Amino acid sequence: MNVSRRALLIGLGAAGGAGAMYAAMNALGLAPGEQRSEFEAPRPSDFALRGKAAAKVIVLGAGIAGLTCAYELGKAGYDCTVLEASDRIGGRSLTLRGGDGLTDTTGERQTAAYGEGVYFNAGPARIASWMVTLDYCRELHVPIEPFVNSNASAYVYTSGMKAPVRFRTARADVYGHLSELLAKATSQGALDEAVQPADKQLLLDFLRQFGDLGERTTYGGSERRGFAVYPGVEPGAPLPPPPTLSELLGYQLAPALTFDLSADQAMPMFQPVGGMDMIVQALADAVGRDRIKTSYPVTKIVNVPDGVEVSHQDGTMKAAYCVAALPPHVLAKIPGNLDSSVLAALRVAVPFSAGKLGLEYGRRWWEQEDRIYGGITETDLDIGRIWYPSEGFHRPRGLVVGYYNFAGDADAYAALRHPERLEKALAQGERVHGAKYRKDLLSSVSVAWANRPHIEGAWANMPPSALLQEPAGRVYFAGDWLTHLVAWQAGAFESARHVVTSLHERVLKEN
Ligand code: ALA
Repeated sequence: MNVSRRALLIGLGAAGGAGAMYAAMNALGLAPGEQRSEFEAPRPSDFALRGKAAAKVIVLGAGIAGLTCAYELGKAGYDCTVLEASDRIGGRSLTLRGGDGLTDTTGERQTAAYGEGVYFNAGPARIASWMVTLDYCRELHVPIEPFVNSNASAYVYTSGMKAPVRFRTARADVYGHLSELLAKATSQGALDEAVQPADKQLLLDFLRQFGDLGERTTYGGSERRGFAVYPGVEPGAPLPPPPTLSELLGYQLAPALTFDLSADQAMPMFQPVGGMDMIVQALADAVGRDRIKTSYPVTKIVNVPDGVEVSHQDGTMKAAYCVAALPPHVLAKIPGNLDSSVLAALRVAVPFSAGKLGLEYGRRWWEQEDRIYGGITETDLDIGRIWYPSEGFHRPRGLVVGYYNFAGDADAYAALRHPERLEKALAQGERVHGAKYRKDLLSSVSVAWANRPHIEGAWANMPPSALLQEPAGRVYFAGDWLTHLVAWQAGAFESARHVVTSLHERVLKEN
């Protein structure tokens, strides 16, 4: 919101009360619960009404940002060509199926041997409900289904623990012990300075419920923890008693128990039916496959007074504009005449590592034996976490993500070849699931994003750059790395919309 609109609302609030302010916010499209809808795709009539022609645009990179630019510009008849350096479209939105090959910058080649219907989302795999990604799924007729991000039946396992604990048990114990502590402090008067006398009873009532303390104000366990044997005709058999407060603190559970509280990780989350790359495929169909050239690396990008010249294996191509939708650290290495300040801004980006391992099993033991239907086991081991599939329940096969790790852990796995990565991850997974973790394993593929050609990182961290939000001559920049949604496809979509809007405004003004 700009300052004048904010000032206007504050003024209205003071003068006319909340009702007037709400009405004004509604008029401005800012009322709570309303999503922004500032983006209007270019339309053919924008040109017809002004007697202008749509321009030619070269888009570099067929990831979500590049494809979206070509898709949105294409709606008004822009003549877009998308050049993709690698042999497949999608960029980091990579779904691997049986027969797919993966050759890394290290020279290692893997070929997925997954069975029919089994897929591995090696890149993005979850979508929050507020993200623009879902609007594109709707518009492009990509069916979606729930993605189970939090599951009370999945495990938490940290090195402080003797054995893994179910999320529901860990949560009950944390709520219980913390509530007991606060209740004690409240009753003993230790919080008298912070809690008003009238609120003391309210706080105690809250804590009894929050921690399931019962009439006592001590935590002795709760049915929220789950059971050793679940109830049926017979009552449930209880779990062993909860850990002491000291044991519980030693588990260091805060990261595991809070990851799904952030706005981008809270349930419900979604995934496209059949694999994340369904979005990429639908975008490519809408753009027109004949406009997208794969295995087409660009060797030079040159701004000239009336356009942009892009060099590649077959010569030089010219267009009125170019959208560079590449990772910033990759783009910065391409020769050309981008201003030194622009290159300096691109070089601020720090590529970040992440890795994933897709384990295909011939038996869905996590459902049959552990009763885990989707969701994530969080650990503090170097595997980071284990993901269980949110689709294909009860089918004969299924794909478990055996690690999804970041930074130093991802770098350590990236330095290994696949067989060693697999062995290391299976040894860690066994600590959570026991010997069955190795049984019924059919095939596996691992991805180390730092080693992916033309990508060289899972994502890039950089402070917001005002300079790169603007075009450098006739070259525009697009990607999640230019937004506050780094590492989300939504960031790529939002950035593409921003670029399309500003490029189209310019085209309507110029010519
Ligand atoms: N957006 C990425 C994830 O959800 C980082 O894991």
